[in-house]
Amino acid sequence: MDRKQHWDSVYTTRAETEVSWFQDNPALSLALIQNSGIAHDAALIDIGGGASRLADALLAEGYGNLAVLDIAAAALEKSRTRLGEAASRIDWIVADITQWQPTRAYRLWHDRAVFHFLTEPSDRAAYKRALLAGTGAGSQIIIASFAPDGPERCSGLPVTRYSPQSLQTELGADFVLQESRHEEHRTPGGNLQHFQFSRFARL
Ligand SMILES: C[S@@+](CC[C@H](N)C(=O)[O-])C[C@H]1O[C@@H](n2cnc3c(N)ncnc32)[C@H](O)[C@@H]1O
Repeated sequence: MDRKQHWDSVYTTRAETEVSWFQDNPALSLALIQNSGIAHDAALIDIGGGASRLADALLAEGYGNLAVLDIAAAALEKSRTRLGEAASRIDWIVADITQWQPTRAYRLWHDRAVFHFLTEPSDRAAYKRALLAGTGAGSQIIIASFAPDGPERCSGLPVTRYSPQSLQTELGADFVLQESRHEEHRTPGGNLQHFQFSRFARL
């Protein structure tokens, strides 16, 4: 099964509230987005947003220039259905981040639990090419991943775990770490997963 089939199958066979990464309230993402200081009309993209409720929360907070990208059309369809009419205010992009060629620069790039799936150096290099094309000087980048003491797999796939420092090393000198947080995420099944959230500014 290839990557796209894997994720489409996850979202067509499981309820969005049952997947291990489900969060009713993406509070830490919202806090870091608020800390970034971006304007409410600034362009913001959620990479691998899936069926996450971050888009709902951002609309409710008054952010009005939103895009959500995911490899799984089935995931975005769930969010569009849940949001109803408000979905038309969001740019929905079905793409594999390692192949995507952004046509604009976003002021804020948010990724919760997507980069950590890229265990091949060539995929990480492709992600970084998209990141560089999809952001500009002064853009803010938030990447949440499993922490060094987090699980080794997610959704049955191997992941690379990061500390804020190893993520900084991975992203390189164009990005400067602004803040980081540790989160103990409780899955719908009751397990605890250790995440790190890091916010970077692009030089
Ligand atoms: C663990 S889920 C996290 C979803 C969402 N960010 C959240 O916090 O609820 C990973 C998401 O990344 C998407 N994904 C995985 N690999 C991807 C890729 N190469 N390009 C774009 N999206 C990808 C999956 O479809 C899935 O929605």
